[in-house]
Amino acid sequence: MLNRRTEPFSFIFCVVGNINLKIKNMNIELKNGEVISELKKLEDSSIDVVITSPPYWKGFGYEAYFNSYAQYLRWSKEWMKEIKRVLKPNGTFYLNVINDSEITVRAFELMQIATEQLMYKLHDTIIWYRYNQQPANTTRQLTNQCEYIFMLRHTSNEVELNKIDAYELNKHIFKTKNVGNVWEIPFNSGSKSQTDFGRKETKSKFGHSGFPSEIPETCIVLSSKENDTILDCFVGTGQSALASLKLNRNFIGIDLDINSIELTKKRVEEKRKEKDLTQKTLFGDGM
Ligand SMILES: C[S@@+](CC[C@H](N)C(=O)[O-])C[C@H]1O[C@@H](n2cnc3c(N)ncnc32)[C@H](O)[C@@H]1O
Repeated sequence: MLNRRTEPFSFIFCVVGNINLKIKNMNIELKNGEVISELKKLEDSSIDVVITSPPYWKGFGYEAYFNSYAQYLRWSKEWMKEIKRVLKPNGTFYLNVINDSEITVRAFELMQIATEQLMYKLHDTIIWYRYNQQPANTTRQLTNQCEYIFMLRHTSNEVELNKIDAYELNKHIFKTKNVGNVWEIPFNSGSKSQTDFGRKETKSKFGHSGFPSEIPETCIVLSSKENDTILDCFVGTGQSALASLKLNRNFIGIDLDINSIELTKKRVEEKRKEKDLTQKTLFGDGM
């Protein structure tokens, strides 16, 4: 159960497997464990937005390893079923997946499990256009320049997307003011500060392909309001935690890898200090 406090305070405590960061009136919980068992501990209908990018079935050091792709799909069905249970009736599940050969994952098979077996409604399909993707080092395949973000819900009724706010926050990802479903977000190339990096930086620093910050930020703004609760059940480098902190949402992150949890904790603490500093500068030390 989330402890939503209204008074401003700031402290940190750790328990084995769990880290709770209480930041002013926000609660950031980080859980080290296997996705299905950790999701089972969450209450029914307690989450407003899920934004997550699951591991491939094999391929990279940090990925989940399965005996077969079929086994991976069965596992995917189980965790997506738990997501459906914890998602509020009007909540939104943003599922980010690449569509690739069997060495990674085929996006549409996961989407089909979600819609045909778990009865989610597919509300929108967002294309993340990574136009500056490194060229495919083969004549056999085209360069894969996109990933999908499936916007899944219990129901498509009574949805109100905060399109204006999403546009204002990250104008550069939309070609026009008509907020559409193609988001142009390059792999970042220049060196950036640790608290504001994109996929290339997360991969080179941590061996992870983290979300560019625009992905979780835009999903969160489109489908939630301040003090709502965001869940990323494969938290990785913690990009979705940082987006939640920036946008004043509560956050729950899960990862099997303790290094991911520790890294996310470190990054959240750094971001919080930055945020405190900005507020002091804006309002003076008396605030
Ligand atoms: C594609 S990465 C997520 C990257 C993340 N979106 C980010 O911004 O950094 C997948 C993550 O899933 C975690 N993972 C793999 N198998 C898992 C499992 N069975 N339960 C929980 N986490 C798992 C990996 O440790 C990895 O951090």
